[in-house]
Amino acid sequence: MFKKILKPFARMFEFQARTHYRMERHSMALTFGIIIAASIGGIVEIAPLFTIDETVEVDPDMRVYTPLEQAGRDIYIREGCYACHSQMIRTLRDEVERYGPYSLAVESQYDHPMLWGSKRTGPDLARLGDKYSDDWQVRHLVNPRDLVPESVMPQYAFLLDEPLRTDDLSDRLAALRGVGVPYTDDMILNAADDAAGQAQPDTDKADGVFERYGDATAIRYFDGRRDRVTEMDALVAYLQILGKLTDLPAQMQPVAEE
Ligand code: HEC
Repeated sequence: MFKKILKPFARMFEFQARTHYRMERHSMALTFGIIIAASIGGIVEIAPLFTIDETVEVDPDMRVYTPLEQAGRDIYIREGCYACHSQMIRTLRDEVERYGPYSLAVESQYDHPMLWGSKRTGPDLARLGDKYSDDWQVRHLVNPRDLVPESVMPQYAFLLDEPLRTDDLSDRLAALRGVGVPYTDDMILNAADDAAGQAQPDTDKADGVFERYGDATAIRYFDGRRDRVTEMDALVAYLQILGKLTDLPAQMQPVAEE
């Protein structure tokens, strides 16, 4: 009985082994075989690139990260948040129902490097912006277990005491412009002031942020501290903009009426 089931497989392997043996002894046949195998792999990788203009959406209104948000993004990378959190909602029903419209390519247009990820110890964060208050975000980062008792996320309370370094932000923005992010000269020149202004609504510097990044930009004491701009300010500003750089996903995927 068992032998009967295995017989066709045995024959198949035997055939394969014989063909392989013959091919290895004929250099031309082997070369030809390698070319065919490699081209299949090549086509699978290269062909989609020909349709890139149609597959990547365009949104001329998409906004860039402000210097404060970009600094927060760098802290997010430095602290390894991406090791537990993805930032890409797949086109699967359970993901869309849990997190919202699936991620579009255009949404990561200005992300260098992108943080899609595939490891989810914690939830996906692609549509986190405005889901919670700033206060919730700060308290959660200070000690996740105060808000979610079963959480295994580490504490990041020290970010509240770390003053944000802003002197390197102009260079950072200039480097990003080098890879295609449309920062203007004005934005690059004022990066440090804009970072400080976005976290200090009552100062003159705040006006420049509205001017350069639009009236809809969130300018707040993100960490609740008024005396100085901290790394917590930057990280929370970044978390609150996740999924909010463009509203194209919501336009393209209207919520179906039940
Ligand atoms: C060891 C894995 C791990 C790391 C590292 C980690 N997280 Fe989490 N995170 C989790 C888990 C698990 C949850 C779900 C429980 C909870 O809400 O605390 C979570 C939840 C969250 C939530 C709430 C999401 C929601 O929709 O409810 C936010 C926001 C968040 N993490 C941000 C961060 C940030 C920012 C960092 C880096 C500074 C970070 N996490 C690092 C594991 C991690």
